[in-house]
Amino acid sequence: MSAAQDNLILAAQVGRVLTLTLNRPQALNALNTALLLELAQQLATAEQNDSIGAVVITGSQKAFAAGADVKEMAQMNAVDLHRDPRVQAWADIARFSKPIIAAVNGFCLGGGCELAMCADYIIAGHNASFGQPEVKLGIMPGAGGTQRLMRLVGPAKAKQMALTGATLSAKQALQAGLVAEVCPAEATLDKAQAQAQQIASYAPIAVAAIKDCCNKALDVELNQGLQYERRSYCVVSSSEDRNEGIDAFLNKRKPTYQNR
Ligand code: HXC
Repeated sequence: MSAAQDNLILAAQVGRVLTLTLNRPQALNALNTALLLELAQQLATAEQNDSIGAVVITGSQKAFAAGADVKEMAQMNAVDLHRDPRVQAWADIARFSKPIIAAVNGFCLGGGCELAMCADYIIAGHNASFGQPEVKLGIMPGAGGTQRLMRLVGPAKAKQMALTGATLSAKQALQAGLVAEVCPAEATLDKAQAQAQQIASYAPIAVAAIKDCCNKALDVELNQGLQYERRSYCVVSSSEDRNEGIDAFLNKRKPTYQNR
């Protein structure tokens, strides 16, 4: 059966925001191959859709995602791992050019935490818990759980998490810099969607360039990053939306952006 028939991802667009809900409640949203491919496919479609300005990825109140699907992993041999189509899916998700906010309640573990870290930022409910417990299974994180975690929370916390498998509460994750904001669990999705609508109301060219430049900062040294930022600034400044944004401000009216 295909992923689409299974409804592994529920997609709903309101205004300029697409919400993608991970939907394997019986397995705490464990990321099996079908779910991950469906998520990447939904994002590829959203990439081409100008009516979508930002995306929220969420799960359930109990679990954002409890990791890669351990039952599926148990069936895979080394050759399967080399040919694993999820590698491309992870790369596609990370390369998505529009902003993604992860709205996280409940368990956010292993591949689930790695998926949340692929988002531009995380809003967490009070009941959220974050961790990379792979070490407890005799394996290790394989989709950013050492690399992105190191950049987000720094070596001490990242190594403590990945080496002990210990989880962080939402409050600890906030202190560590893993999440941007913590709120009551009932409010997580609303908050993420409201912020996504706000972002999606801005000029798409500027928004995409800001995301791109922020991500560049994680890859290159400062002077290279500053040059990249300056070039991007000049490109964004040559857009029609830049003239519209400034004119709207000066004339005390709401801007109407055309993505040009
Ligand atoms: C497959 C999972 C799962 C997972 C939970 N389930 N996590 N199935 N893969 N990662 C299933 C359980 O088998 C069970 O189904 C159902 O979901 C409910 O889970 P319970 O354990 O009964 O719930 P609870 O007691 O509340 O415990 C929750 C939990 C625990 C603490 C989150 O489920 C847990 O420890 N899960 C595994 C977490 C983990 O190790 N994640 C990392 C995976 S490795 P049944 O049918 O049995 O009732 C990974 C590698 C990433 O992510 C690499 C990327 C390349």
